[in-house]
Amino acid sequence: MARNRKSYICKACGSDFPKWQGKCPVCGEWNTISENEAPPGRTGAAPQADLFQLSAVGRETVRRIQTGMGEFNLVCGGGVVPGSVILIGGEPGIGKSTLALQIAGYFKTLYISGEESPAQIRIRAERVGSTADTIQLSTATDVGQITDLAASLKPECIIIDSIQTLYSPDIPGLKGSVSQIRESAARLAEAAKRQGAVLILIGHITKEGTIAGPKLLEHLVDTVLYFEGNFSREFRVLRAFKNRYGSVNEIGLFRMEERGLVEVTDKNRIFLNPYLSSAPGNAVSAAVEGSRIILFEVQSLVTASSFPNPRRMADGFELNRLILITAVLEKHAGLRLNAHDVFINVSGGFQINDTAADLAVAVSIASSLKNTAVPNGVGFLGEISLSGEIRPVSLCGRRIQEFRHSGFRRLILPDAELEEAKAAGFEGEVSGIRTIRDALDRIF
Ligand code: TYD
Ligand code: MG
Repeated sequence: MARNRKSYICKACGSDFPKWQGKCPVCGEWNTISENEAPPGRTGAAPQADLFQLSAVGRETVRRIQTGMGEFNLVCGGGVVPGSVILIGGEPGIGKSTLALQIAGYFKTLYISGEESPAQIRIRAERVGSTADTIQLSTATDVGQITDLAASLKPECIIIDSIQTLYSPDIPGLKGSVSQIRESAARLAEAAKRQGAVLILIGHITKEGTIAGPKLLEHLVDTVLYFEGNFSREFRVLRAFKNRYGSVNEIGLFRMEERGLVEVTDKNRIFLNPYLSSAPGNAVSAAVEGSRIILFEVQSLVTASSFPNPRRMADGFELNRLILITAVLEKHAGLRLNAHDVFINVSGGFQINDTAADLAVAVSIASSLKNTAVPNGVGFLGEISLSGEIRPVSLCGRRIQEFRHSGFRRLILPDAELEEAKAAGFEGEVSGIRTIRDALDRIF
């Protein structure tokens, strides 16, 4: 469809506007709006559209290919679906090319790199052990050339590293412009779907944190995965943000090592600090992340405040929730926190958005204030209400299982979940509690 009127589009969020503006009113980014050039119009009549009677359409079972990387299969929804388009976004240097090359080895792959020379890719391939004869390499950036290559080679998987380097000469706009990225991706997706190949598009996130390419493409692809590395040390998290073939919120955990990305096998414990757990101010809880349970440690530091309004700071936990918990501790457990600064931190840089962690946060604050450590091997579960009661948590049985597998000896959890603990076969001591005061009395 040719547009005869100019329109302007925001590179960051993809909204379009009739007029140019310096700041995008939708996402608030500056200097991201540019002219959206109309794609070329069609000449001749439209081909006939397909039409189905819904009741006569057969059910299709989705075929999935298992790569040798279990974590990648998991975030894709249990394997990679042929003919699907997967977008992998992330900051430069996070490991997108490394991941793509490692996945390439499991297929007959056409690897397109507009960013690195074949020799550079060869060196990386040797490093990560992805030197299979089934990988074909090209540095083509012209989308027409790439679709031609794909048509003649018939690969099972096409990897584009990165979408920002592609170019279609018949489309107006510079390399990396909105119209180029959109149209190039659409043409590749169409070609891949036609051939039943998996298309993996790699997209950089710009350093300002806005997503130049990937955001524009989210609607066009089947699966959007973001590679995050806000983890301290060497951990990398691959997170599903959209998935037509699986659930979102699923995460894959990797470690970047000398020979590329290695799946984390001891997943449930990586966020537990092995050295500090017997120090005052620490308490362990369990969070639900997609289909798995992750144990993590909350660390608190409570110090006498020299401010009229004592400070509260949270890293990896919602600040408002922390303020609420300190208020409840003050009112219902008699802790004198109004003259203390409270800092909390979730170990490993993990972000917890789960109210089941409330009790661990409260206990870790009390532990730091009293300068008394929580005994080793104790796990906490429970949501705290404004009245100081401990409420049940979702998926409690599975969380208890995880504590059990990880060798925890004692659990403090809501009274209402005692049956769950029994059903989960937890062998250690289990204390069911009703209030926050009750919980602190049992521990200290
Ligand atoms: P890369 O995959 O090139 O990142 P991206 O494509 O997202 O920009 O890899 C980034 C970093 O990973 C790079 O700084 C080097 C490091 N690395 C390793 O530590 N081990 C390895 O085996 C490889 C291939 C890379
Ligand atoms: Mg790269």
